[in-house]
Amino acid sequence: MSRKPQNASDDLDVVVSVSHTSDETYLAMVWQEFFLSRGRGLTLGAHFPWISGTDPSGVFVTLARGGKVVGGLALIDRSSAMSKEAGRVAAIGLVVVRPDMRGRGYSGLLLKRAIDLAKESNYVGLTLWTSKHAVYSPYGFELADEAVFGTVRNASPAAEETSILVRCRHEDDDRSIYPGIPPFARDMARIRHRTCALVVLSDGKDDMLAETEGPLSEVADALTSLMPRHWMLNSTRGSPLLGELESRGLQLDMQASHLQMWMSLVPGVAASDLAAKGHFSVLDRI
Ligand SMILES: CC(C)(COP(=O)(O)OP(=O)(O)OC[C@H]1O[C@@H](n2cnc3c(N)ncnc32)[C@H](O)[C@@H]1OP(=O)(O)O)[C@@H](O)C(=O)NCCC(=O)NCCS
Repeated sequence: MSRKPQNASDDLDVVVSVSHTSDETYLAMVWQEFFLSRGRGLTLGAHFPWISGTDPSGVFVTLARGGKVVGGLALIDRSSAMSKEAGRVAAIGLVVVRPDMRGRGYSGLLLKRAIDLAKESNYVGLTLWTSKHAVYSPYGFELADEAVFGTVRNASPAAEETSILVRCRHEDDDRSIYPGIPPFARDMARIRHRTCALVVLSDGKDDMLAETEGPLSEVADALTSLMPRHWMLNSTRGSPLLGELESRGLQLDMQASHLQMWMSLVPGVAASDLAAKGHFSVLDRI
């Protein structure tokens, strides 16, 4: 068992710092933990284009012990995913502590610094995506997730049985709008169809709808005619798209994602209030 001081700041040689530039040792830990050890990943920049420090809203909190970086996290503005009146929010992600330094409360020191920083920067809330809720709940994060995820089956698809990315990408993909792709994905295309647009991801096995733009009936037409027999859908609970697809005979099997946590930084505002004002897609996650 590793040592765990009652208060991790008792470790006198521990320094927590904040920078707009990402530390090389931290980046190597991120690559090892979230990609290499899970047998996935293109390059860090392909998944998180802001990670090199080019996005001014991106901040890295790192923890050094004895002068060596042993942990860190990233914080990035995600206000664009909120309703206009909701105020500014930031997302936390890529929280990692070097394996031999775990269990000492270091992730807590990183999170506390990130929370203080968000308060100083007048954010109204912080959000993150995790299946490890116990790591974050002691600091005030609550599960408040509006996302649903599941499979769509089309018994008689109009499209041939190949990936929509293979069929559409060369003529339609717009690489100028590149938000980065989630760690599990290998490929992304923005596909235009009549007056709507779709963002589709692939993990090498399945096509996965990430975002849509345009009139609902046009989007449903595009999905019914372009997607293969079986595909994955990321959406929001109660989204009209779900009913629209079902009314066209597609079979949906959706489940709550249970990944997004929220922390309100404003007294009187609940985490669920912030969640209800968010319109996050899978591309906003870090
Ligand atoms: C998760 C991680 C950052 C925790 O760092 P840490 O410094 O060891 O964590 P702490 O010592 O501050 O532990 C804080 C609490 O988190 C919880 N926790 C730690 N690791 C956990 C894990 N892998 N799963 C679930 N809960 C965990 C524990 O409840 C712990 O509290 P307790 O032991 O006092 O009950 C670290 O284990 C890590 O780098 N893991 C790999 C990367 C990762 O999974 N990051 C989080 C992705 S969302």
